[in-house]
This record gives sequence, C-alpha cells and structure tokens, in this order.
Amino acid sequence: MIIAVDGPAASGKGTIARALAAHYRLPHLDTGLLYRAVGVAVARAGGDADDEDAAERACNFPDALMDDPELRGAEAGSLASRVARHPRVRAALLARQQAFARQPGGAVLDGRDIGTVIAPDADAKLFVTANIEARTDRRYRELLGKGDRVDREELREDLVRRDERDSSRDAAPLLQSATAGLIDTSDLSVDQAIAAAIAMVERQR
Ligand code: C5P
Repeated sequence: MIIAVDGPAASGKGTIARALAAHYRLPHLDTGLLYRAVGVAVARAGGDADDEDAAERACNFPDALMDDPELRGAEAGSLASRVARHPRVRAALLARQQAFARQPGGAVLDGRDIGTVIAPDADAKLFVTANIEARTDRRYRELLGKGDRVDREELREDLVRRDERDSSRDAAPLLQSATAGLIDTSDLSVDQAIAAAIAMVERQR
C-alpha cells in the first residue's frame, strides 16, 4: 500500500505521515528533507539556491547530510523552497522518491507533490492543511522546543512566503490532487488528526 500525504509547511502532515507509517507498519520518507539537504548543500558549497546549475550539482549530497540537525531549521526550509522550484532539481530527486514508494509492501511519503507527481497511483492520498495562525503557532513551539531563537512574526511571514513560492511555481506546485481527501488540522488535537487520517485511508484503500 502506498500512502501519499501532501500539504503546506507545518500543517501536521509529517506527524500524520509518521503515525500512518507506524499504524500500517510501513517505511516513511519525509521528502522535504531531500530538498532541505539540497538547499543546505548548495549553501555550504558557497552556491546560490536560485541558480539551477548550482542546485542541480548539490543533488549529489552525501547520505549522511540527511541526518544533519541543521536540515530541520527555518533557514533550511527557505533554502529548500528555493531549490525546489528548479525542474532539474525535481527531476534529480524523482527516481529516489519513486524507488522508495515502490518498495515491496508499500510506503508512506509526505511532501508537496506525492499524490500529483511522485505516486499519482497511490492507494490512499491525503491533503493536510491548517490555517496560517495554527501553522505558525506549531512551528514556533517546535523551534522553541529545539532551543532555536525565533521571532513569531518573522516565522509567520516566512511560512506565507514559502506557501506562495510552493503554490505558484511552474514545476510541481503544491496543489490538492482531485482524488486526495482533505484534512484540516487547525482545530484538531494530534490524536484527532491521526484518527481522521486513519479513517480516511481506510475509506480510500
Ligand atoms: O516539508 P518541508 O517544509 O520540509 O519542505 C521544505 C520545502 O521543500 C518546501 O517548502 C517545498 O518547497 C519543498 N518540497 C517540495 N516537494 C516536496 C517536499 C518539499 O517542493 N515533495
């Protein structure tokens, strides 16, 4: 069974994807980490995230970078959404994601284009969203919990910018697949969101 989970930043899609993977005993790939790794790799090489050639070269990042805590920070998120606009970066990361999706037994993948581009034939597709205030609060608490010093207003603006960039780009923009079930987590607890997601997968599979 392949489960595709898409949605904007801090919508709760990662938490839902991890919970679905545990529930169905499936491997899970957070595809945002791939774009974050490319963004961080290009910055460390002294390159410009907006330069498609530099970003494409950074797709050869070492596997160990996937475990680097810097990938989880706000700066890596911004860099990721800049490199994610480039068609050649998306193409370079495609095979890896599709191989993960097609492993025997299935998988859960979360990102922006899983149900639309990476695994349009997924057995279950969820589009997870939440209003901007709920998403800002969540990301703020998450970063504070990690000891990052963050300004809430800056964080909010960063999320709005990232949404705008992810939704308006030509290459695989963030959009809800016609066949995806919508889960709005704005007023849901984590447990409620997970229960809603499992119920939706059960209806779709
Ligand atoms: O999900 P996360 O916030 O880690 O993703 C970081 C950025 O990577 C997103 O803002 C988006 O631009 C990009 N991304 C993407 N396609 C995916 C996953 C992430 O374009 N499947």
